[in-house]
Amino acid sequence: MTAASQPLPLSLNVSTPLIGTVRVPGDKSISHRALMLGALAVGESVIEGLLEGEDVLATAAAMRAMGASAERTGDGLWRVNGVGVGGLLQPQTALDMGNSGTSTRLLMGLVASHAITATFTGDASLSKRPMGRVIDPLSLMGARFEASPGGRLPLTMAGLCPAVPLRYVLPVASAQVKSAVLLASLNAPGVTMVIEKTPTRDHSERMLTGFGAQVTVEDAPEGRIISIRGEAELKPQAIIVPGDPSSAAFPMVAALIVPGSDVLIENVGVNPTRAGLIQALRMMGASIELLNEREVGGEPVADLRVRASALSGIEVPPEIAPSMIDEYPILFVAAALAGGTTVARGLGELRVKESDRITVMAEGLRACGVRVEELEDGLVVHGTGGERRAGGATVASHLDHRIAMSFAVLGLAAHRPVIVDDARPIATSFPSFVPLMESLGAESR
Ligand code: S3P
Repeated sequence: MTAASQPLPLSLNVSTPLIGTVRVPGDKSISHRALMLGALAVGESVIEGLLEGEDVLATAAAMRAMGASAERTGDGLWRVNGVGVGGLLQPQTALDMGNSGTSTRLLMGLVASHAITATFTGDASLSKRPMGRVIDPLSLMGARFEASPGGRLPLTMAGLCPAVPLRYVLPVASAQVKSAVLLASLNAPGVTMVIEKTPTRDHSERMLTGFGAQVTVEDAPEGRIISIRGEAELKPQAIIVPGDPSSAAFPMVAALIVPGSDVLIENVGVNPTRAGLIQALRMMGASIELLNEREVGGEPVADLRVRASALSGIEVPPEIAPSMIDEYPILFVAAALAGGTTVARGLGELRVKESDRITVMAEGLRACGVRVEELEDGLVVHGTGGERRAGGATVASHLDHRIAMSFAVLGLAAHRPVIVDDARPIATSFPSFVPLMESLGAESR
């Protein structure tokens, strides 16, 4: 982390409704992909609205280390000059991925089909996360790996140029694994196919098509089949990155649980593969209006008007999990203020995110006076029906930005402060989180 070297405690509180109009930073998933595909096109791509969070900056640094240029210019745009598919250079030092699983897994896909060797390192959180899920398919495509025990970072890999095309049925619902294979296939002959039983975020497919790759997507009985023709030539693009729905989730839930609030969040990506939280919150009775729906750069976008609402507990349909996989921590906060019980299952993947988000949320919510039951693959949260929670606890963020922001938001609806022990991880995805919440009326300490 580049920010302060000492833990940075944070607590938010509010004594008025949250009112105002805000914009959240650019979508993290789309920002990573824009830098990577720009680096593989021949010529200059221009990116507007790139998320300048630590995770995305780690991707930009890696692309530079492999021969592309990726710079922010005075006008706030990012300009990426690519080297062409097959043209990545051997990095001279280890690629430091910081906290970013997306950077790591997608870049492993890129390296897999280049004749280069690269070492990936990361922080304590990233070094605990499983990489076997990308090592397996990329090995089948010809890459070789030396990983730390359990298939973890630090790891060194050598790519094969050209790689071997693959037909791969995803064993886990993971856009990162899907994208790693699709990116590797760009420098493999013939057609590579990825089959996903449950659709996951489709930004890679959309953006690869935008850059001129031949991609087809077919819904078949065995799942969604994504086919891509390799040895692609990517053409540089002008990309506009929409606001990140996973960041919008925090002011959205804050507005729902602070009485009297009325917040407009402009320019938010509402791609159906990401919009599960809106669906779940509406099932709970949330007032969320999608205004001015439009398409920007191949992605659906809308302005979201969110008003404080009386929420009710629900059984969250497990099939929408992939479309809100990063939003469960903040959904559990909404559930803690809802009337009745919320049950969420089918969430084994939450245990291998930046932290074990099931255990970490269960522990933090309990410390704040919320009754929860931890399941192997989910969480049961008993809500208050709108009554403020007790609070009065210090909660550990475990190097996890979404845990930090979730408990900061819970503090807005608690009697006594909820202190997040270390808010530094927020800079990985949403550096403007605290000032944005302040602009709506929250106070930070
Ligand atoms: C991402 C995919 C998801 C998500 C992550 C970003 C992506 O991870 O949790 O924050 O950009 O492809 P998984 O593929 O592990 O589900």
